[in-house]
Formats: sequence, C-alpha cells, structure tokens
Amino acid sequence: MRVIHTKSVSLVIAEQNQTPAIVYIGRRLEQPLLESSLTTLMQRAIPQGGLDEAAQLTIASSFADPTFLNPALQIHQQGKAWAPQWQLQENEATESSVQYKLADSKSGLVLSWHLIADAQNDVFTIETSLENKGSHNISLQQWLTTLPIPQQLDTVTSFTGRWIHEFQPQQQPLSFGSIEFSNWKGRTSHDHFPGLLLGSQRTDFTHGECFAFHLGWSGNHQQRVERSQSGQCQYQAGIALMPGEVELAPGDQFSAVPLFFTYATNGFAGVAERFQPFVRDNILSFPNATPRPVHINTWEALYFNHEQTELDSLAAAAEHCGVERYVLDDGWFSGRRDDTAGLGDWVVDESIYPNGLHPLKTTLKKHNLGFGLWFEPEMVNKNSQLHRSHPDWVLQLPGQQQASGRNQWVLDITRPEVQDYLYKQITDILRDYPVEYIKWDMNRDLLQAGDHQGKPVYYHYVRSLYRLLDRIRKAYPLVEIESCASGGGRMDYGILKYTHRFWLSDCNDANERQIMQQWASLFFPAEVLGSHIGPTKSHTTSRSHALNVRAGTALFGHLGIEWDIRQANESEQAQLVQLVSLYKDLRNTLHQGIRRPMAGADKHQIAFSVTHGDTMLISIFQQKMPEFSVPAPLRIPGLNNARHYAIDILIEAEQTGHLMKRKPSWMHNRTKVFSGEQLMRFGLPLPVMDPESLLVLQLTDC
Ligand code: DGJ
Repeated sequence: MRVIHTKSVSLVIAEQNQTPAIVYIGRRLEQPLLESSLTTLMQRAIPQGGLDEAAQLTIASSFADPTFLNPALQIHQQGKAWAPQWQLQENEATESSVQYKLADSKSGLVLSWHLIADAQNDVFTIETSLENKGSHNISLQQWLTTLPIPQQLDTVTSFTGRWIHEFQPQQQPLSFGSIEFSNWKGRTSHDHFPGLLLGSQRTDFTHGECFAFHLGWSGNHQQRVERSQSGQCQYQAGIALMPGEVELAPGDQFSAVPLFFTYATNGFAGVAERFQPFVRDNILSFPNATPRPVHINTWEALYFNHEQTELDSLAAAAEHCGVERYVLDDGWFSGRRDDTAGLGDWVVDESIYPNGLHPLKTTLKKHNLGFGLWFEPEMVNKNSQLHRSHPDWVLQLPGQQQASGRNQWVLDITRPEVQDYLYKQITDILRDYPVEYIKWDMNRDLLQAGDHQGKPVYYHYVRSLYRLLDRIRKAYPLVEIESCASGGGRMDYGILKYTHRFWLSDCNDANERQIMQQWASLFFPAEVLGSHIGPTKSHTTSRSHALNVRAGTALFGHLGIEWDIRQANESEQAQLVQLVSLYKDLRNTLHQGIRRPMAGADKHQIAFSVTHGDTMLISIFQQKMPEFSVPAPLRIPGLNNARHYAIDILIEAEQTGHLMKRKPSWMHNRTKVFSGEQLMRFGLPLPVMDPESLLVLQLTDC
C-alpha cells in the first residue's frame, strides 16, 4: 500500500496487483496503516449472479476489467488489441508523489501515470501520457483519467452557461447510470466548465464532504460521473477525441492533460480555500509583483469609434478616476471598422491612425496609464488581406459548407507558417509600441476543424495555441495576457499557465456578476477574475444598479471600468474616485486573501468573506425581496473565539434604510467592536436590505 498525506487529506493506493488502484481519498489518516487488516477490510462480498471475482477499479481500467464501468482507456489496432491488460513496469515514489509505468504487451502501449500532491494546499494533480512502443499503429479513442469516488456522495454540481451568463451551477442527483458532460466546441466553452463538485445532499457552502475536480485543458473535453448497479462509483475526465484524431504510430506519444482534484469536509468553502492558493502557487506566474492595476477598457465606452479625440478624452477621465491601465479594444487594426472585416491583418489601420498608435502612446504616457491592446489572433474575416492571400489557412473540410461565427473563421494554427505569421504580426506591434498587456480574444467555436488533409486537429489546435502563447511570453516576458473568449469561454488552468487574467463575462450587470463570481471563485483566485464597473444601465441586461453596487461587486476581482465615464455626472465621478481608491486600499487583502462563500442571513442573499492576515471583508448582496421582514443575524464563520473585531462599513447601498424605523443598533454606534465568539455564535444583525442592494464590511482583529 502506498499512502500520500497532505495537510488534511490522505490518498491510499493498493499496489499488490499489476495495475495499481486508488482505494481511499478522504480525511487525513492519523494512525500508521496496518496493511494486513486494511487488506481484509477491503475484501467485500461477491454477490450471486455475477462474475466470481471482486471488481477493483484501477487507475487505468480497460474493457478487460470486470467493473463494467466506462473504461479509462479505449484503443484498438484495426479492430484488435481492444482490451489491454497491464503489467507494472516501473514504480517510483517520494513523500508527495508516485509514478507508475504500465505496459500492455498485446498493443505495445505504455502508460505513464504520475500523481503529485501539493501537501500544503491539499490538491492532487494527475498527469498521464501514452506511448506506442509496439510495431503497429494504435487508434486511441479515449483516455480519461479515472478516480474512484465514495458511494455516499451522490450530488453533482456542475457549471454551465452561455455568452453573458457564465458559471451557472447545476445540481443533479447521481443515481444509477452516468452523468456526462461533453464539450465539442473546440475551446473550453461557456457551456461546460471542465470541473465539477461532488458532495452529498447535505453538502452546502460551509458544511459537508466535497470533492472538486478540474481538468486543465482549453479544448474539447469530457467529464463523467458514474455509478454501477453494484454501487461502484467513478469520476472521469479527459480530452474528448474526434474519430481518428489520435493515431499513434510506433514511437508516438500522446500527452494527456492534467486533472486537479481536492477533498474537503467543510463544503464548497473548503474547495475555495484549497484551489485558490494552489493556483497562486502552481499555475500563475506574473511578470512582476506589482498590485493588479485598475483598467479602463474602451469596448463598452467607444466600441468601434476610435477617433483620437475620443480616445484621448477617455484617457484623461480615466486618470482622474485613478485608473492605471488603458486597454484599447477591438477596432484599431487594418480595415476593422465593424465586425465584418479585418481579422487577420494585425497592422495599425492608417485611415484612422495616420500616425500609428504613437499619438495614443503619448496620451497614455501623459496620463500615467499603461498600454493594453486587443488581439484576436486565431481568427480571420474573409474580408481581410490575410484571407485574400491565404484562403487555405482556414480550418475547414474540403467540399463542405461551414457556418461562420460573428463573420469569422478559425485559422489552422497547427501549421507552422500560420504560427510564424501570427507570432511576427503580434511581436512587430509589441516591438513598436510599449504594450504591457494583451487582451487575447477568441469569439467563435471550432466547427469542422480539419487540416488541409481533412484530419481533425482539435487536440493539436490547443497544443499549438499554448505554443504560440509560450513563444510570445518568452520573447516579451513582461507582457501580461488576458484570456477572453466572448467573455468567459476559455477559463481553465491549462490556458492560465500562459495567461494572467480571465475576462469572466461580457455581462457587467452586478446581479449576474455576483452569481458568476461566487462560483468561479471556487476554482480561481480573485486577481485573475477580470471584473469591470459598467454603465448605470447594463448593456447586456438593461438592468440598472447604483454605482455602489456595481463597484462593490467589481472590486472583488481584478478591477476595471467598462463605461464611458466622460458621461458620468460630477457626483458619480467623485464616487468613482473614492471607490477606485477603496479597491487600491483593499487589493492586497483581495489578491492575497482567500475568498470563501458563506450562508447569507436570508435565503436570497449571496454572501462571502475574504480573509487575509488580521482582516476579513464580508460582502452581502440581497438578490431578491427578503424572505422575512427582519433578517436573521449573520453568523460569521472563521473568526477567532477569543479575539475582538472592529467592524467598518465600507459600502452601504444607497437606498438601504428606508425600510426600517431603526437600523440594527451596532450600525449607529461609533465604536463597533465585538468578540469573535459572539459574531460566530450569535451573529451580526443586518439591516433590512432592498432587492439588489449591497453591504460590504471590514472586520479587523484588534
Ligand atoms: C468579445 C469580448 O468578450 C469583448 O469584451 C470585446 O473585446 C469584443 N469581443 C470585441 O470584439
């Protein structure tokens, strides 16, 4: 038996057979493992009416195994060698990792399976690869990293969504059979986030057992949760492959994608407190340690109106509000006067920028603003110089019709000449202008993504994208990159290795953002979640929110403004100055702290805390009409019983107050100091809040 311990989780692998099997993932085991008694405990009943052997779920199940669950591996050699049986070839381990090499003598396939534990953060990573060491081609149909899950856990929370409606949770009971999520859109997709939570019916934000899984991949993917008639359960995730997509010739290797997972006993908050620091420690790498600068993005302020005077006056207004970086969005390059033309031609449009981007560069320097620039490198419009010169560079199937998406087609970036072209066009701009930030957009799904021979290249597409990003980062290591795909269509740990921020959604409506940010925060830390203050009336929902609510929602990510602030009235501008400065005061706490969801005092509240050092921020958003006329006191978890906390009100929504004859008395007190134990057990009485209003508090250990 092999045991790997992290701070609060243990994982046990039985190694006595040819194929190792994970037999335990759960609460940390404190006592030494008694192998013989454990082996006896693991021998369960063998029921009548079936095979004579107990069915063990291994790390590399195939059609040869008697579990009758969906196998991890599906291969064949022209209809033969379809049920591999493994021999253990190598076995290496350290305190925090274990690596196996398994070989199937029939097909010649060798599997490398590597588990690495981040002991401090309780997160495990499994990396795998397959190599054809035989002498015949192997058709790989499926490789899904497979884990056993305890029978008691029967509630699956996955995340779906669409453009302007990302990160919507969906809960389903797991009974007999399987729940499957398959993404065929070629990018991570809004529809199927490659991660899910598995708990019991009693698991909630702060209580109960919970597994969380995430696949680090930005293309087609599949996740499955399955329970057999014998009660055996498994979770599987991996790349979803098109027919014939991976043919392994002798000597070829297929690198699968990492699966990340964690286990917690304090509900979804436990997932957040593990994944957020894990991402900081293992995935993210910022060029420097400076705080995340406040952005202004030109898109919702100006769209395609790139008049120099407009750009300049927006920059002046931005500086006045405390903005630190200016991102020039879509519309600056050749022929791009609307969304029907120009993609592919990454040179400055001389008709609107006769002196290039130099005048803008001067303006930004004058206003102390960093320079960010939008690209959508993977795409081409038919109305572009690039398409006129290279119509064959598009991913397409010869002789077939393919739908466009936003008037654009996808380039075959697996071709070296396409990679070189894009690399040159982008780096020429980076050479000529002091661009410190790229907004890398991607606005359509892949469809009929065949190379010039018609072979599917979905898998190689993503690898090529990573290569291109890597090349640009190596050439310009100080340039940050944002991953945007019609908002949050490409958010995962795979792309995050090469980028520094996500554009979570094109929807800046505070109500919608509160939901998306709450769930996205289980997987990602705040500093990578791009969050902008939009105009009073949202461009995507037509809802209106007070500035306090919009800013108080946006500041819990990486703050920006996506609003023509020149139109803001004097009082709004003054308020904006104050709110941007509040973000700057809080950003160390926000971007180094841990955000945990918590139960609100009313069932229509979205509540969470952010803790860092001796500071805790609490945000309570009242989504709908409160259930009761007086809200229950908010019990604040995670404080120290014996300490005392001073409470400051940072944001109080404008209208809160008119529904009460008297606010809770602590809100009137000049000194608001309470014991940790009382705040946790008795709770903090809240004001009666209007629908769509927000309260943000700061607690300081004093
Ligand atoms: C889609 C993005 O999500 C928007 O923020 C904006 O950059 C547009 N594309 C520009 O075309």
